[in-house]
Amino acid sequence: MLELFDVCRYYGGIKAVDQVSFAVGNQEVVGLIGPNGSGKTTCLDLISGVTPLTSGTIRFKGQDITHFNATQVARIGIRRTFQTTSLFKDCTVLENMFIASHLADRRSLFRPGSLRLERRRLEQSARDLLDFVGIPPSYGGRAVGELSTADQRRLMVALALVNQPSLILLDEPSAGMIVSERDEFSRLLLKIKERGISILIVEHHMRLLSQVCDRMVVLNFGRVIANGPPEAVQRDPVVMEAYLGGSNHAVG
Ligand SMILES: Nc1ncnc2c1ncn2[C@@H]1O[C@H](COP(=O)(O)OP(=O)(O)OP(=O)(O)O)[C@@H](O)[C@H]1O
Ligand SMILES: [Mg+2]
Repeated sequence: MLELFDVCRYYGGIKAVDQVSFAVGNQEVVGLIGPNGSGKTTCLDLISGVTPLTSGTIRFKGQDITHFNATQVARIGIRRTFQTTSLFKDCTVLENMFIASHLADRRSLFRPGSLRLERRRLEQSARDLLDFVGIPPSYGGRAVGELSTADQRRLMVALALVNQPSLILLDEPSAGMIVSERDEFSRLLLKIKERGISILIVEHHMRLLSQVCDRMVVLNFGRVIANGPPEAVQRDPVVMEAYLGGSNHAVG
Protein backbone atom coordinates (compact mmCIF):
# COMPACT_ATOMS: atom_id res chain seq x y z
CA MET A 1 0.00 0.00 0.00
CA LEU A 2 2.58 2.58 1.16
CA GLU A 3 6.21 2.30 0.04
CA LEU A 4 9.20 4.50 0.88
CA PHE A 5 12.38 4.18 -1.19
CA ASP A 6 15.64 5.80 -0.02
CA VAL A 7 13.75 8.74 1.44
CA CYS A 8 15.98 11.58 2.73
CA ARG A 9 15.24 14.87 4.47
CA TYR A 10 18.22 17.03 5.38
CA TYR A 11 18.15 20.29 7.34
CA GLY A 12 21.50 21.82 6.50
CA GLY A 13 23.96 19.36 7.99
CA ILE A 14 21.32 17.46 9.97
CA LYS A 15 20.20 14.22 8.34
CA ALA A 16 16.76 14.06 10.00
CA VAL A 17 15.74 11.18 7.70
CA ASP A 18 18.48 9.35 5.82
CA GLN A 19 17.88 6.76 3.07
CA VAL A 20 14.80 5.34 4.73
CA SER A 21 13.01 2.48 2.97
CA PHE A 22 10.08 0.51 4.36
CA ALA A 23 6.52 -0.40 3.46
CA VAL A 24 3.10 -0.62 5.09
CA GLY A 25 0.86 -3.35 3.69
CA ASN A 26 -2.92 -3.65 3.33
CA GLN A 27 -4.62 -3.73 6.72
CA GLU A 28 -1.23 -3.82 8.42
CA VAL A 29 -0.27 -2.01 11.63
CA VAL A 30 3.36 -0.87 11.59
CA GLY A 31 5.08 0.73 14.57
CA LEU A 32 7.68 3.39 13.84
CA ILE A 33 9.96 3.69 16.85
CA GLY A 34 13.34 5.10 17.83
CA PRO A 35 15.00 7.35 20.41
CA ASN A 36 14.10 11.06 20.65
CA GLY A 37 15.18 12.99 17.58
CA SER A 38 15.64 9.86 15.45
CA GLY A 39 13.40 11.13 12.64
CA LYS A 40 10.00 9.58 13.37
CA THR A 41 7.90 12.75 13.12
CA THR A 42 9.88 13.89 10.07
CA CYS A 43 8.98 10.59 8.36
CA LEU A 44 5.28 11.24 8.97
CA ASP A 45 5.73 14.85 7.74
CA LEU A 46 7.27 13.55 4.51
CA ILE A 47 4.58 10.93 3.89
CA SER A 48 1.74 13.37 4.66
CA GLY A 49 3.12 16.08 2.36
CA VAL A 50 3.74 18.55 5.19
CA THR A 51 7.48 18.66 4.41
CA PRO A 52 9.12 18.16 0.98
CA LEU A 53 11.67 15.36 0.52
CA THR A 54 15.35 16.12 -0.10
CA SER A 55 15.46 12.96 -2.23
CA GLY A 56 13.83 9.55 -2.57
CA THR A 57 10.43 8.25 -3.65
CA ILE A 58 7.11 7.59 -1.91
CA ARG A 59 4.41 5.45 -3.54
CA PHE A 60 0.85 4.81 -2.40
CA LYS A 61 -1.20 2.04 -4.01
CA GLY A 62 1.34 2.04 -6.84
CA GLN A 63 1.03 5.80 -7.50
CA ASP A 64 4.05 8.10 -7.12
CA ILE A 65 3.06 10.63 -4.43
CA THR A 66 6.58 11.95 -3.73
CA HIS A 67 5.70 15.53 -4.66
CA PHE A 68 2.12 15.62 -3.38
CA ASN A 69 1.21 18.41 -0.97
CA ALA A 70 -0.74 17.80 2.26
CA THR A 71 -4.14 18.38 0.62
CA GLN A 72 -3.41 15.95 -2.21
CA VAL A 73 -2.15 13.30 0.22
CA ALA A 74 -5.29 13.63 2.36
CA ARG A 75 -7.48 13.36 -0.74
CA ILE A 76 -6.00 10.02 -1.81
CA GLY A 77 -6.84 8.51 1.57
CA ILE A 78 -3.89 9.10 3.90
CA ARG A 79 -4.79 11.00 7.07
CA ARG A 80 -2.70 11.80 10.12
CA THR A 81 -2.67 13.04 13.70
CA PHE A 82 -0.01 15.34 15.14
CA GLN A 83 2.29 14.83 18.13
CA THR A 84 0.87 17.89 19.88
CA THR A 85 -2.90 18.23 19.87
CA SER A 86 -4.07 20.13 16.83
CA LEU A 87 -7.69 20.50 17.89
CA PHE A 88 -9.77 23.67 17.93
CA LYS A 89 -10.11 23.81 21.71
CA ASP A 90 -12.82 26.51 21.85
CA CYS A 91 -15.01 24.70 19.32
CA THR A 92 -17.25 21.81 20.26
CA VAL A 93 -16.47 18.17 19.54
CA LEU A 94 -18.98 18.08 16.67
CA GLU A 95 -17.68 21.37 15.23
CA ASN A 96 -14.19 19.87 15.10
CA MET A 97 -15.62 16.90 13.21
CA PHE A 98 -17.41 19.21 10.73
CA ILE A 99 -14.22 21.19 10.12
CA ALA A 100 -12.34 17.95 9.40
CA SER A 101 -15.08 16.81 6.99
CA HIS A 102 -15.02 20.08 5.09
CA LEU A 103 -11.24 20.07 4.85
CA ALA A 104 -11.34 16.54 3.52
CA ASP A 105 -14.09 17.23 1.01
CA ARG A 106 -14.57 20.92 0.27
CA ARG A 107 -17.24 20.25 -2.33
CA SER A 108 -19.67 19.39 0.47
CA LEU A 109 -19.81 23.08 1.40
CA PHE A 110 -21.03 24.20 -1.99
CA ARG A 111 -23.57 21.62 -3.05
CA PRO A 112 -26.67 23.80 -3.59
CA GLY A 113 -30.08 22.64 -2.49
CA SER A 114 -28.80 19.81 -0.39
CA LEU A 115 -27.38 21.74 2.53
CA ARG A 116 -29.83 20.51 5.14
CA LEU A 117 -29.56 16.95 3.95
CA GLU A 118 -25.80 17.30 3.79
CA ARG A 119 -25.63 18.63 7.32
CA ARG A 120 -27.76 15.77 8.61
CA ARG A 121 -25.59 13.23 6.79
CA LEU A 122 -22.40 14.84 8.17
CA GLU A 123 -23.79 14.96 11.68
CA GLN A 124 -24.81 11.31 11.58
CA SER A 125 -21.46 10.12 10.28
CA ALA A 126 -19.66 12.34 12.85
CA ARG A 127 -21.74 10.83 15.67
CA ASP A 128 -21.07 7.31 14.37
CA LEU A 129 -17.32 7.98 14.36
CA LEU A 130 -17.36 9.48 17.86
CA ASP A 131 -19.22 6.41 19.07
CA PHE A 132 -16.69 4.19 17.29
CA VAL A 133 -13.71 5.81 19.07
CA GLY A 134 -15.48 5.70 22.45
CA ILE A 135 -16.55 9.31 22.97
CA PRO A 136 -20.06 9.44 24.53
CA PRO A 137 -22.74 11.00 22.25
CA SER A 138 -23.56 13.57 24.96
CA TYR A 139 -20.06 15.08 24.50
CA GLY A 140 -20.89 16.29 20.98
CA GLY A 141 -21.81 19.80 22.19
CA ARG A 142 -18.95 20.19 24.66
CA ALA A 143 -15.97 22.45 24.08
CA VAL A 144 -12.94 20.31 23.24
CA GLY A 145 -10.87 22.10 25.90
CA GLU A 146 -13.13 20.56 28.56
CA LEU A 147 -12.40 16.98 27.51
CA SER A 148 -9.85 14.76 29.28
CA THR A 149 -6.51 14.22 27.56
CA ALA A 150 -7.53 10.67 26.63
CA ASP A 151 -10.79 11.89 25.05
CA GLN A 152 -8.90 14.58 23.12
CA ARG A 153 -6.53 11.91 21.80
CA ARG A 154 -9.49 9.71 20.80
CA LEU A 155 -11.07 12.72 19.08
CA MET A 156 -7.86 13.24 17.08
CA VAL A 157 -8.21 9.65 15.83
CA ALA A 158 -11.88 10.25 14.97
CA LEU A 159 -10.84 13.32 12.93
CA ALA A 160 -8.28 11.23 11.06
CA LEU A 161 -10.99 8.67 10.24
CA VAL A 162 -13.31 11.23 8.60
CA ASN A 163 -13.96 10.38 4.92
CA GLN A 164 -12.80 6.79 5.22
CA PRO A 165 -9.03 6.87 4.69
CA SER A 166 -7.19 3.67 3.81
CA LEU A 167 -4.10 4.60 5.85
CA ILE A 168 -3.74 6.66 9.02
CA LEU A 169 -0.48 8.02 10.45
CA LEU A 170 -0.50 8.49 14.22
CA ASP A 171 2.20 10.47 16.07
CA GLU A 172 2.36 9.40 19.73
CA PRO A 173 -1.43 9.11 19.95
CA SER A 174 -1.46 7.68 23.51
CA ALA A 175 0.62 10.49 25.05
CA GLY A 176 -0.84 11.54 28.40
CA MET A 177 -3.02 8.43 28.83
CA ILE A 178 -2.96 6.24 31.93
CA VAL A 179 -2.41 2.46 31.57
CA SER A 180 -6.09 1.45 31.50
CA GLU A 181 -6.86 4.15 28.90
CA ARG A 182 -3.93 2.99 26.81
CA ASP A 183 -5.12 -0.64 26.86
CA GLU A 184 -8.55 0.52 25.72
CA PHE A 185 -6.85 2.59 23.03
CA SER A 186 -5.04 -0.58 21.79
CA ARG A 187 -8.41 -2.22 21.31
CA LEU A 188 -9.60 0.81 19.31
CA LEU A 189 -6.56 0.53 17.02
CA LEU A 190 -7.35 -3.15 16.41
CA LYS A 191 -10.96 -2.25 15.59
CA ILE A 192 -9.67 0.29 13.05
CA LYS A 193 -7.52 -2.41 11.49
CA GLU A 194 -10.57 -4.70 11.32
CA ARG A 195 -12.26 -2.00 9.23
CA GLY A 196 -9.57 -2.59 6.63
CA ILE A 197 -7.53 0.53 7.45
CA SER A 198 -3.72 0.37 7.66
CA ILE A 199 -1.93 2.18 10.48
CA LEU A 200 1.57 3.63 10.79
CA ILE A 201 2.04 4.51 14.45
CA VAL A 202 4.84 6.40 16.19
CA GLU A 203 4.86 5.41 19.86
CA HIS A 204 7.15 5.00 22.84
CA HIS A 205 4.96 2.58 24.78
CA MET A 206 6.18 -0.93 24.04
CA ARG A 207 3.19 -2.60 25.66
CA LEU A 208 0.79 -0.83 23.29
CA LEU A 209 3.06 -1.53 20.30
CA SER A 210 3.26 -5.23 21.16
CA GLN A 211 -0.53 -5.38 21.43
CA VAL A 212 -1.27 -3.82 18.05
CA CYS A 213 1.72 -4.03 15.69
CA ASP A 214 2.25 -6.63 12.99
CA ARG A 215 5.69 -5.18 12.41
CA MET A 216 8.02 -2.53 13.79
CA VAL A 217 10.51 -0.29 12.00
CA VAL A 218 13.26 1.20 14.17
CA LEU A 219 15.00 4.49 13.37
CA ASN A 220 18.25 5.76 14.85
CA PHE A 221 19.88 9.00 13.68
CA GLY A 222 17.45 9.06 10.73
CA ARG A 223 18.29 5.56 9.51
CA VAL A 224 16.38 2.27 9.66
CA ILE A 225 18.29 -0.08 11.98
CA ALA A 226 15.66 -2.83 12.31
CA ASN A 227 12.42 -3.94 10.62
CA GLY A 228 10.51 -7.04 11.72
CA PRO A 229 8.01 -8.63 14.11
CA PRO A 230 7.73 -6.84 17.51
CA GLU A 231 9.27 -9.71 19.53
CA ALA A 232 12.31 -9.98 17.27
CA VAL A 233 12.84 -6.22 17.15
CA GLN A 234 12.72 -5.89 20.94
CA ARG A 235 15.36 -8.61 21.32
CA ASP A 236 17.61 -7.15 18.62
CA PRO A 237 20.96 -6.14 20.21
CA VAL A 238 21.38 -3.25 17.74
CA VAL A 239 18.01 -1.82 18.84
CA MET A 240 18.79 -2.24 22.53
CA GLU A 241 22.12 -0.47 22.05
CA ALA A 242 20.42 2.44 20.22
CA TYR A 243 18.00 2.96 23.10
CA LEU A 244 20.56 2.53 25.87
CA GLY A 245 23.09 4.69 24.06
CA GLY A 246 21.11 7.85 23.47
CA SER A 247 17.78 8.13 25.25
CA ASN A 248 15.77 7.71 28.42
CA HIS A 249 13.14 5.55 26.73
CA ALA A 250 13.70 1.91 27.68
CA VAL A 251 12.68 -0.94 25.38
CA GLY A 252 10.37 -3.34 27.26
N1 LIG B 1 12.26 21.98 10.76
C1 LIG B 1 13.43 21.51 11.21
N2 LIG B 1 14.56 22.25 11.12
C2 LIG B 1 15.74 21.76 11.57
N3 LIG B 1 15.90 20.55 12.14
C3 LIG B 1 14.82 19.77 12.26
C4 LIG B 1 13.52 20.20 11.80
N4 LIG B 1 12.62 19.21 12.06
C5 LIG B 1 13.33 18.23 12.65
N5 LIG B 1 14.62 18.55 12.77
C6 LIG B 1 15.69 17.71 13.35
O1 LIG B 1 15.59 16.43 12.76
C7 LIG B 1 15.83 15.41 13.72
C8 LIG B 1 14.66 14.47 13.78
O2 LIG B 1 13.55 15.12 14.39
P1 LIG B 1 12.13 14.44 14.55
O3 LIG B 1 11.23 15.47 15.14
O4 LIG B 1 11.71 13.81 13.30
O5 LIG B 1 12.44 13.30 15.64
P2 LIG B 1 11.46 12.33 16.42
O6 LIG B 1 12.00 10.95 16.25
O7 LIG B 1 10.05 12.56 16.06
O8 LIG B 1 11.72 12.77 17.95
P3 LIG B 1 10.73 12.75 19.25
O9 LIG B 1 10.73 11.34 19.76
O10 LIG B 1 11.41 13.69 20.20
O11 LIG B 1 9.38 13.22 18.83
C9 LIG B 1 16.16 16.12 15.03
O12 LIG B 1 17.55 16.24 15.14
C10 LIG B 1 15.50 17.47 14.84
O13 LIG B 1 16.13 18.45 15.62
MG1 LIG C 1 8.39 13.21 17.11
